[in-house]
Order: sequence, then structure tokens, then C-alpha cells
Amino acid sequence: MALKLIIDTDPGIDDAMAIFYAIADPKIELLALTTVFGNVTTPQATRNAMFLLEEAGVALPVSSGLHQPRILPPFPTSSSVHGDEGFGRLKLIEPKGIPEVEPAPEFLVRMAREHKGEIILCPIGPLTNVAAAMDLDPDFCKNLNGIVIMGGSLGAGGNITAAAEANIYHDPHAAEHVFKNGCNITLVGLDVTDRVICPREFFQALALESPRIGGMLSEMTDFYINFYESIGKTNGCSMHDPTALVACVNMNFFKTELHKLCVTTSGDRIGETVSDINCARSDVKVCVDVDILAVKNKFFSNVAKLY
Ligand code: BDR
Ligand code: CA
Repeated sequence: MALKLIIDTDPGIDDAMAIFYAIADPKIELLALTTVFGNVTTPQATRNAMFLLEEAGVALPVSSGLHQPRILPPFPTSSSVHGDEGFGRLKLIEPKGIPEVEPAPEFLVRMAREHKGEIILCPIGPLTNVAAAMDLDPDFCKNLNGIVIMGGSLGAGGNITAAAEANIYHDPHAAEHVFKNGCNITLVGLDVTDRVICPREFFQALALESPRIGGMLSEMTDFYINFYESIGKTNGCSMHDPTALVACVNMNFFKTELHKLCVTTSGDRIGETVSDINCARSDVKVCVDVDILAVKNKFFSNVAKLY
């Protein structure tokens, strides 16, 4: 039976890869998308999420989330990485659908209740909506099967500052709230996602197999790879968000360790995920090593099936 999954997302180029992968993999039953700011604003994220689903010919609910971090003031979007609208230079068509009336935190709480113990929530943006869902319902964690987070870093340093990974940095207070809430959490952070790197040729080959969806990813990643080149990384782009989705259904590709994680919420190292046995909370399963080729092959072979 396929795994019921909801993605909380800020699309974003690697978010687009992750969403298409989730649509394509028969081991995943994608139930919905919820949206959050990060790479783009929340209204842009909602529009982009609906656009991706419509391009893939899939009708699923999209619920729009919170517009700013839990405590910090809003951040500028990551336009140098993902483009002004989120998908590099790709021309977006305004989606035909409309988002759910219910905001993302309420939507997540209701879905978890209606599918008790079944849903894996996979946040691939800042954890603002997830923290808010925990505030709304003390049983939210219990009602989920688990949470697989793309974010953080144990020993790989940061990607937005020297210490912080972008998704945690964009709402450190939400991340801290999520880690201390006693959920069944797996962390797919930079220790593994920054090692799964794909060059332009990977996406060009994907476009040959899947002219529409693969072609779209090839066009988007041209911009994304230019960004990586501009910071001296010349072998392609990191597959952050799709690696988290692959992990949801292929944990055997990953080596994990149990850590008690705290998030630094002030000072120079704000947004850092710190392993500390003195953090009073339950363990997080942290991915520390990855079968890089297996992840890439799994991503390619599934997305290549899309039209
Ligand atoms: C994360 O930050 C965003 O830019 C990406 O979409 C990914 O979710 C990587 O640090
Ligand atoms: Ca993302």
C-alpha cells in the first residue's frame, strides 16, 4: 500500500523536483500540498504549487499557509537562487484552480485527524505551518505517522550562513518548537542533501525521457545551476528537497543516527541545528550518510515516467 504523504513547500526549483517525484513514485500517495514562504512569498508559493500540479495533470488540494515567521520579521525571498517567481526564467501560466479555504495549519490538523497514524508530513520549507499545527492540536504529532524534514545540518555547516541551513534559518523559532514537541522526526539535512549533486546533463537526459515535466525541470535547473556556479560549485546543483522525498520511501538508502536537536534562536549562529544531549526532548533520526547514486537513480527513473 502506498504511503500517504503531504508536502509543506515553498516552491522553489528543488521543491518542484520533489513534488514531481512524489507524484511519480507509486510508493507514494500524495494527498495534498500546503505552502509557506521561503524561496518565494506564501502567495507565490501557493500559485506555484497549483501550477506544478496542473502541469502534471494532477488534481489535489493546495492549502495556503502562514505569511511570516513565528517571531522574526519577514525575510526577503531567495530570488538569486530560485528566480523572482520561484522557477528561474520559466514562464509561469496562472493556474486555473483555487486554493482550499482552510489555512495550512488547520488543514494539516484536520488531515492528520482524518487519517490517524497514516500520514507522513514532509516539510521542505521553513517549519512555520508545522509549528502552528502543533499549537492548534496537542495530538497533532500522535495523529501523524511521522515527519520527514528537509532542513538543518549536523556536521556540514550552513548554506545561508556559515552555521545555518536555509529552511531552519528562515524560522528558527518554529524549528525549535517542532523539535521539542516529541514527534517522530527524521531529519534529511545538508549532511546528505548537499552531497546529492546533479549536473545539467542529468536534467537534459531527463527531458529526453519526459519532454514536458523533465523539460520543465531542465529549463528551471539551468538558472539554479548558474547560481551554484556563481558560488564556485561547478558540478551541478544540490538535490535538497527531492532527497527528502526519496528518503520518505527509501530509508534503506540512508545511514541514520539518533540526536537530541536544539536550534539556536539568537546571535551570530541563529538557525544552527545543534546536537546536545542536554536538550530536554526526544531523539530525532538524523540522516548522516547516503547512497548518492541510489537516490539519483530513484529520482530519475520515477520522474522519467511523467509525460
Ligand atoms: C532548502 O532551502 C531552499 O532554498 C530549498 O528549496 C531547500 O528546501 C535547502 O537548504
Ligand atoms: Ca524548499
